Amino acid sequence: MSALAMAINSAGLQPGQGAGEGNNHLNSILPSEVVDVLSSISLRCVECSALYPAIEAGQSTLSSPRYRCECGGVLDVEMAFRLPKEHHMSARASNSKESSVFFDFDAGADDAPSAGAAWRQLFDERASAPPIWPISTDKQLLDASGVWRYRELILSTPEQYVVSRPEGNTGLYPVGIENCGAGRAGHRQIGIYAGLERFFLKHEGENPSGSFKDRGMTVGVTMAHMLGAKAVACASTGNTSASLASYAAQAGMRGIVFLPAGNVAGGKLAQTLAYGATTIQIRGDFDDAMRLVEQVCNELGIYLLNSLNPFRIEGQKAIGFEILQQLDWQAPDWLVLPAGNLGNTSAIGKAFRQAYQLGLISHMPRIASIQAAGANPFYRSFKQNFAVRESVQAETIATAIKIGNPVSYTRARQVIEESDGIVEEATDDEILAAKAIIDRAGIGCEPASATTLAGARKLVARGIIKRDERVVGVLTGNLLKDSKTGIPQETSGIVVDATLDAVRKVLAQ
Ligand code: F0G
Repeated sequence: MSALAMAINSAGLQPGQGAGEGNNHLNSILPSEVVDVLSSISLRCVECSALYPAIEAGQSTLSSPRYRCECGGVLDVEMAFRLPKEHHMSARASNSKESSVFFDFDAGADDAPSAGAAWRQLFDERASAPPIWPISTDKQLLDASGVWRYRELILSTPEQYVVSRPEGNTGLYPVGIENCGAGRAGHRQIGIYAGLERFFLKHEGENPSGSFKDRGMTVGVTMAHMLGAKAVACASTGNTSASLASYAAQAGMRGIVFLPAGNVAGGKLAQTLAYGATTIQIRGDFDDAMRLVEQVCNELGIYLLNSLNPFRIEGQKAIGFEILQQLDWQAPDWLVLPAGNLGNTSAIGKAFRQAYQLGLISHMPRIASIQAAGANPFYRSFKQNFAVRESVQAETIATAIKIGNPVSYTRARQVIEESDGIVEEATDDEILAAKAIIDRAGIGCEPASATTLAGARKLVARGIIKRDERVVGVLTGNLLKDSKTGIPQETSGIVVDATLDAVRKVLAQ
């Protein structure tokens, strides 16, 4: 048995219980409907453009999924988009060319605007049917999910394979100086701090496990389910692990997570343990954990669910689609978000590109990715016009984005270049100051999420984002994930007698 296999087994895995004794747990015969789905998907290397089928012709098992190109590059999903039959009529009614109901990736721009109307109608119909609890049918579950509502653009799979909480449907808060309505004086403080008149915050911390990771994870675990996987694994700074643990538990799979010891916020660790994932804390940082998990998955046939897995990126695209839908398909001028491993920058950028190509929106938003100054390899590369791919030894209080060598570098670079975007950095002090503003407005977020506001403020001050532009900022994780960093602890220690007098004294301070 190899050293890695022994390390896994010593972490508590039993033969037949997921990974064990070198067994490959992805080699079951695939049902024909799964083969059909996989046959319609290709994987394109983002470095050298090599194209791989998701499944070879005639192949009936998938013993080792491909996560990388032969050249080492990461892969990107490509597929044709098909409107469901019942919506063909509306597409035809608004477009004389019947071919417009099928969309290859490079759909003709002429067809796009009117075809976009049919797509908008489809997604708006699904969003307007409120879920009736308890959700009892697969179809209802799919429409209720803020990911599977857009399934034709993400993964068209038979309903019985979908593993969903459901997720998404997170709040989009108007917090700008002008667009902040009555009864929101507190929220307006955020717009004042950023210097933006029309500013929205998309709170992905409102997902079931408290971070945006659920969007990619529902698709990743669904794919694991389709492939008959018994065990799934990831390396994580905490949120991916909590999400993986939750979805793996729901699906009855073994979850295995690799965490950088001592560098994961308490709430995330608690979730991961509570949901029952095998939790392996390694002596090393996230980048070490990432290297290790890839080796472990390849060797033991465990399904890898880091954002290296291209289907996770497909799920995360739904953040972009949902923002556009909540804005009634009026694309914002800017999308600002935190950047660590760069999966989210890649995914939201891809969603906007595809929405534009399909005619769902009339222009591409510009993307601003914000890194912590102590974990800023992407920022450093951007400063050199991406001439060099930088990596750093990461150090920041925002542990979620404490990443020195991001996996999705090339995907994200493409997004920044094609959207005429920008990469900015924020110091820990700037992140904490921005977090205090978001927290005190009553919205709250974890430290990494506050890079969004810190970065937006800097870009407005530099005149790059204009004060009157429409800007959406993404908050990636819930306040409760990290209840220590940047939250004033001093008043929590005050205990008083249960008398009016004692309370008066406290309130007078
Ligand atoms: N914000 C939060 C709260 C995160 O947890 C992460 C990443 C990011 C931002 C950065 O997103 O990696 O797509 O650029 N967390 C990963 C994890 C690395 O393991 O939970 P990214």
